[in-house]
Amino acid sequence: MGTEGADRFHHIDRSRMLETVVAGPGQLIEGWRAAADAAGLLSSRRTPMAICGMGGSAAGGLLLGDLAGAGAPAPVHVIRNYLLPSWVGEDTLLVCVSYSGDTEETLECFHNALLRGNRPVAITSGGRLAEEARRAGTPLVTIPGGLPPRAAIGYLFGPLLRLGAAHGLVDVDDETVARAVHRAGKIASRYALEADLAGNVALQLAKKLYGRIPLVYSGGGLLANLPYRWKCQFNENSKSMAFANVFPELGHNEVMGWESTERMREGFFLVMLRDAADHPRVQRRMDATYAMLEPLGAGATLLDSEGPPGRAGRLERLLSLLVLGDVASVYLAVEYGKDPTPIDKIQEIKDLLGTEDR
Ligand code: PA5
Repeated sequence: MGTEGADRFHHIDRSRMLETVVAGPGQLIEGWRAAADAAGLLSSRRTPMAICGMGGSAAGGLLLGDLAGAGAPAPVHVIRNYLLPSWVGEDTLLVCVSYSGDTEETLECFHNALLRGNRPVAITSGGRLAEEARRAGTPLVTIPGGLPPRAAIGYLFGPLLRLGAAHGLVDVDDETVARAVHRAGKIASRYALEADLAGNVALQLAKKLYGRIPLVYSGGGLLANLPYRWKCQFNENSKSMAFANVFPELGHNEVMGWESTERMREGFFLVMLRDAADHPRVQRRMDATYAMLEPLGAGATLLDSEGPPGRAGRLERLLSLLVLGDVASVYLAVEYGKDPTPIDKIQEIKDLLGTEDR
């Protein structure tokens, strides 16, 4: 992009969200290190892990659950609500994540956990969650503040990775994290504003999605929650409607939505995220479904994760497509002439509820 294009870009992306997400992979190392002390308090007990958080602060937990996957010795649950499930007890590894530290749903879970005799780990940049964790003497992981939570995904995911590893739920160590961050950083640099247009898949994708509704699908497994992350990024950064679903389930219901009227289908753009380790029958379903749906909408694209095959490459492959979605959503925002950073409607609702007595 020439100087004029870059100036126009920065005029819209005033808070430089693009630079933050391109540099994002480096946050993961910092987040991983920030949780060293809290992880040191855990034993590899392999009891269920529950992660409370909302929106951008829940995203790291969803990624951790996918990384742990079906082979994990105990489940990883993400709780995005006020209520803690009754099975959460003293023995559950409970982590409350709120980037601002002031999200009421997460604070309520934190309080309930204390009442149950649980000692939740808090991950936050400050706010009430930090204050209350200090007061209760529970483990506190402090991460750098000042970013939109969704642009702090590495700071939020890194500590969870470390806690999940110390608890025996994911097989990740310093070296795995360093390798994944290195690869993700190289991939992200291909999507930078000054990068060669021919290799900038994020920008190319954003241009294709302009004026369309992305329907983002994956094969479950390692990428189970990635369509949802992409959807949320298109919602919040691009100010676009978007939908997410996973195979094989979507072949049993959502696929029928592609029989909508032609006028509706003209708005659909199919984005299929694939991983080499997707179940073979899921791969077969994805191929057949792609061939069936591609002619029906406004366009379609297949995007493959990048990284070594097998369990050792899971984190690298997951991050490769996380970065692509994050950056594409920022380019799409600018295509629409929208600043990716403000989230007025989300803030309006928080402000409204914040004024009410509880
Ligand atoms: O992207 C966002 O800003 C939101 O989804 C927030 O993450 C969400 O509202 C929760 O706030 P916090 O992350 O500060 O707990």
